[in-house]
Amino acid sequence: MKYLLTLICLIVVGVNKNSVGGSDPMYNCSNCEPQQIHIAFGEENDDIVVTWTTIGDTQQSLVQFGMAQDPYLNWEATGQRTSYENLRDYRCGSRFAWSKLFYYTTFPERQAVLRAAIYGDMGVDNAQAIPYLQQEADTDSIHFILHLGDFAYDMNDDDSHRGDQFMQKIQPFAAIVPFMVCPGNHEYSKNFTQYKSRMTMPNYEQSESMFYSWNIGPIHFVSINTEAYYFLNYGLDPLVSQFRWLVKDLKEANSKKNRKKQPWIIMYGHRPMYCSGEEHNNKANCLEAATRTGLNVPSYTKTFTIEPLLMKYGVDIAIWAHEHMYERTWPLYDFKVYNGSTEQPYLNPRAPIHIVTGAGGCLETPNQFVRLQSDWCAFRSTDYSYTRLHAHNKTHIYFEQVSLNLKGKVIDSFWVVQKKHGSFRSKNH
Ligand SMILES: [Fe+2]
Repeated sequence: MKYLLTLICLIVVGVNKNSVGGSDPMYNCSNCEPQQIHIAFGEENDDIVVTWTTIGDTQQSLVQFGMAQDPYLNWEATGQRTSYENLRDYRCGSRFAWSKLFYYTTFPERQAVLRAAIYGDMGVDNAQAIPYLQQEADTDSIHFILHLGDFAYDMNDDDSHRGDQFMQKIQPFAAIVPFMVCPGNHEYSKNFTQYKSRMTMPNYEQSESMFYSWNIGPIHFVSINTEAYYFLNYGLDPLVSQFRWLVKDLKEANSKKNRKKQPWIIMYGHRPMYCSGEEHNNKANCLEAATRTGLNVPSYTKTFTIEPLLMKYGVDIAIWAHEHMYERTWPLYDFKVYNGSTEQPYLNPRAPIHIVTGAGGCLETPNQFVRLQSDWCAFRSTDYSYTRLHAHNKTHIYFEQVSLNLKGKVIDSFWVVQKKHGSFRSKNH
């Protein structure tokens, strides 16, 4: 039996007092309970997008919420877009069925430290990171989560029940902490339909969550779809349009005004440019990443190589997953290390630093390292793990890696200090 999946996305923003008319009260709305509720940042910092699923057609989609200055559920969103601040309690659904109450706090821009949890490759089964993510969310320890592709294993399996199961499983933390994502190879089926339908990232109208950027605190985040370089059966357009957008976005992020406001640029995507493992299944060397080496299509003159853009536009840190392990590099470009200095490699680094954090836990076993630690590799581990990001200010950012094998022990930590943000090109002449 084909499973009916109705996905609803609603931009929750300041709207009318609770006055929206109901739909036909006689309408028979069975199976209209909202499920798989998760939130994400919208175009602006204080926009929150609520996405949920109902099995039945509810004819209407509503979010009722309170704000700091008016904490009761006196406000209602139906999709209009204006700004608001300090969203607090909310519930979503329709007149026929409401979700339970969730509590969310907007990130205050002037807060000292911006904190996030980051990982990739987490499935329904063996989802090792979930209890830790829940605790991070429940204790207000993080302002958002980045899941860097490969969800559920796989979302389209079992007539999409696997995807429903996964989204339901993460709801307890994804409904209270923005859950930001990018696509992985496990989402490839039917041109990433499951991913596109279930996730609502900024720039959704243009890219259906496949690529986008957003700002928070001192960071400009850029999310890319690395899979566009591998699933060429869906055509070159996803890759070409992303590349065009990416250059424009990085250029704008480097305008004097923007780079002053968000001096850190962090890119994330699924497949890494550097790693010590080997690809699943095809045993290909992951050092042949197409995002680094460029696309090799005989009839096409352009290669759409991304790594030079990281140098040109001063992308400070690039975070990936796909390899079920953790690895961090020294400041690196084209296999050459560009440390700030021998004594302090991460003080004013002269190239992007790469992090691979794809060990959230899934049915596939952790990757093993297939070669000796390279000169460009600073630390690596095959433990299940996730990354904590703490952005302290415009010059100091801190990362640590939490081992799940070792019950939450931090196995790696480092500071990156950059006092001269901007293109790395000029720093290497
Ligand atoms: Fe993957």
